[in-house]
Amino acid sequence: MTSPTTPWDLPAGFSWGTATAAYQIEGAVTEDGRGPSVWDTFCAEPGRVRDGHTGAIACDHYHRWAEDVALLADLGVDAYRFSIAWSRIQPAGRGRPNPAGLDFYDRLVDALIERGITPTPTLFHWDLPQALEDEGGWLARDTAARFADYAEHVAARLGDRVRTWITLNEPFIHMAWGYALGVHAPGHTLLLDALPAAHHQLLGHGLAAPVLRAAGAERILVANNLTPVRAASDSAEDRAAAAAYDTLHNRLLTDPLLLGRYPDLSAYGHDSTALPFVEPGDLDLIGGSLTGLGVNYYNPTVIAAGAPDAPLPFTIGEITGVPRTAFDWPVVPEGLTTLLTGLGAYYADALPPIWITENGCSTAEGYDDPERIAFLAGHIAAVGAAHKAGIDVRGYFVWSLLDNFEWAEGYHQRFGLVHVDFATGTRTPRASYRWLRERIGAGRPE
Ligand code: BGC
Repeated sequence: MTSPTTPWDLPAGFSWGTATAAYQIEGAVTEDGRGPSVWDTFCAEPGRVRDGHTGAIACDHYHRWAEDVALLADLGVDAYRFSIAWSRIQPAGRGRPNPAGLDFYDRLVDALIERGITPTPTLFHWDLPQALEDEGGWLARDTAARFADYAEHVAARLGDRVRTWITLNEPFIHMAWGYALGVHAPGHTLLLDALPAAHHQLLGHGLAAPVLRAAGAERILVANNLTPVRAASDSAEDRAAAAAYDTLHNRLLTDPLLLGRYPDLSAYGHDSTALPFVEPGDLDLIGGSLTGLGVNYYNPTVIAAGAPDAPLPFTIGEITGVPRTAFDWPVVPEGLTTLLTGLGAYYADALPPIWITENGCSTAEGYDDPERIAFLAGHIAAVGAAHKAGIDVRGYFVWSLLDNFEWAEGYHQRFGLVHVDFATGTRTPRASYRWLRERIGAGRPE
């Protein structure tokens, strides 16, 4: 049996949830006035997504949302993290909101609340309206102001019922994969010149936070992808490279939020106190704006020194000797404890309460998924260990409720507690769904 034999060491009131994102599940990309997003464009470009898959239909959640809410209710979760498609609300990224777009999320929020599930929307999960990309996307400072305007429209409609907001999903991954390496939309290959895309996302968050607070928000989170970084060896070069990678992946997008400043970027040839794209007042808006930190964790990272003439001062190594997911990602549950206790040690009093906003794995297509059960059991136990070590961690969202469109991998990676037949849309709960239902039901206070 793969589940832990002792109960998880989690605090009273711990919140269980699952997470999804709009482009990965909704489909209906031209319906009810939705405008195109960068992902529609990217998917249409040959060679960008494996086998030419697109999110045009995905899980057809736009039509099957009531069935998905029923699945959540049956699972017994406390909260559901979903994302709002900006281009359903503002098809061209600006201007008057599209009522049909707001109506869709309004209905979803009501249905969740009716079933006792806390709606936890993310405002930006990578699907920028294409019209804004045409004006420079997140490289353009104005996109931050557009984001705050979009947030205001959404909050005006949902703010009477939504109390917890996640502004951004993984701004580091969006910058790195979308703007630096070009493996995600919008497909730029700017390497370190992508840095303004990080700052402008944070600025958008900083501008949106007071708007959300004014609409009654009690919790404002950013969901950051974080990874504990280990040097490949004890050599000074590998250790310096690991520190540089930690700065880029973890601290670049977290220090400004929690400490109000950028980390030392000298390894990247930048003076972090004089970044050309940071204007006076920006860091005051960004710093201290979070009332919770979202942590998305998948695996740790091993780093070695980069080749002398390489553009980046590190090389990503291989983690060996551990199980691997269907995506070939290493499975290291204790890395989550290391990550969380490391955040506590580094940010100390500046660290707000933590929610694990994503954690999960892809498995083979079948309905029986012992690997997912083992993965979840190990990682939830790791959260318990961090709690026991003094970390204030309040909730855990499984990625994902459904098999869905896994970005550049298309439909080849299945992350769902629920299997989806993409030809028919049929949902079939997996063994892991039943396992989680039992476990969280057992852990619930009477
Ligand atoms: C993203 C999800 C994605 C998951 C698995 C996270 O980086 O937020 O959208 O599907 O990881 O790759």
